[in-house]
Amino acid sequence: MITAVDLVNDIRFEGESIVTYPDELHPIGKGRSAAVFKLSMENKVLKVFYPEFHHLAEQEAAIYQELDNDVYYPKLYEAGKGYLILEYLDGVTFYDCLIEGIEITKEMVQNVEDALNYAKSKGLNPSDTHLQNVMLLKTGEVRVIDVVRFRQTKECSHWEDLKTAYQTIYCNPYFPKKIPAWVVETVIRLYRKGIIKFNKEK
Ligand SMILES: Nc1ncnc2c1ncn2[C@@H]1O[C@H](COP(=O)(O)OP(=O)(O)O)[C@@H](O)[C@H]1O
Ligand SMILES: [Mg+2]
Repeated sequence: MITAVDLVNDIRFEGESIVTYPDELHPIGKGRSAAVFKLSMENKVLKVFYPEFHHLAEQEAAIYQELDNDVYYPKLYEAGKGYLILEYLDGVTFYDCLIEGIEITKEMVQNVEDALNYAKSKGLNPSDTHLQNVMLLKTGEVRVIDVVRFRQTKECSHWEDLKTAYQTIYCNPYFPKKIPAWVVETVIRLYRKGIIKFNKEK
């Protein structure tokens, strides 16, 4: 039987680029610290951290165990050196929603809020919650992914800023609900550089 460790050992990265991967895996997402593959014939994904972020797997697994929740977060099935096996979420990120023109409703935003409040109730400090770390499932449910920074002590305003942008810009009836990827990318880049700010207090 092929184990997760066998699969991970058959993946080759060059920095953040995936050079080769076994046939049992289908790349479905990439972030700043890992690549995510769907496992053939299983409702599971393999999240493999890039070599320099290897150590984050253990941290993220511990946070998922602490959250111990599959209403707001994906289930964690297994964790090993540099990888996690998580529940496959059949859906799209909020980032995809903007580009594909799928409306982000107030209820979806409230679901994220509930997920983050739940994490806070567990003594965690939800951080790095941005458009690519929240997903809308085909069932209409919402999940928060990528919890690796939920233990950092530094305050992260990403979600609060997104909420402000949502309430003040997106909810305006004249604001288009489908936005070209290059526009979204440009706004993200300018936000990261601090050139545009969404939080009124700043
Ligand atoms: N459990 C999952 N089911 C489906 N897609 C996922 C899942 N986890 C991650 N993804 C996809 O992979 C991308 C990268 O995963 P993420 O955990 O955010 O990695 P990183 O920590 O590098 O940002 C996500 O933005 C999402 O598109
Ligand atoms: Mg991410």
